[in-house]
Amino acid sequence: MSFTLTIIKPDAVKKNYTGKIIDDILQAGFAIRAMKQLRLTTEQARAFYEVHKERPFYDDLVAFMTSGPVVAAVLEKDNAVEDFRKLIGATNPAEAAEGTIRKKYAESIQNNAVHGSDSPENAVREAGFFFSYLEWS
Ligand code: CMP
Repeated sequence: MSFTLTIIKPDAVKKNYTGKIIDDILQAGFAIRAMKQLRLTTEQARAFYEVHKERPFYDDLVAFMTSGPVVAAVLEKDNAVEDFRKLIGATNPAEAAEGTIRKKYAESIQNNAVHGSDSPENAVREAGFFFSYLEWS
């Protein structure tokens, strides 16, 4: 079994989509290894998205990700990273396939409802960012 890290972002939590999104994730065959709701500090959001720090949208992204609570979860499934990215759809909801989580629940390319790790290596880093090894192993 492999795993991925998801974040239900402040836009979706604010609109009470948390339950619907978790249901979609479970119906798609993922198991939840660990899950928590928290509000990121600016420092934490900057660190999580450090890879994007040179991008023009970085400051706005950090402001958005700290604007309210998020739900972080470690999800388990065969081929978890790739299958989860299919389930959530393209970064820009306008380009996301019908039936995907972003198509159904996202507002914009920034306020795009959910995050999914983009590689197994990043899934390890991101799971370690939100959870201690004891919580998700
Ligand atoms: P995520 O998959 O969490 O990874 C980086 C995030 O940056 C992305 O989702 C969006 O929330 C945001 N993002 C990516 N591209 C853009 C963009 N062109 N403009 C604004 N925000 C973006």
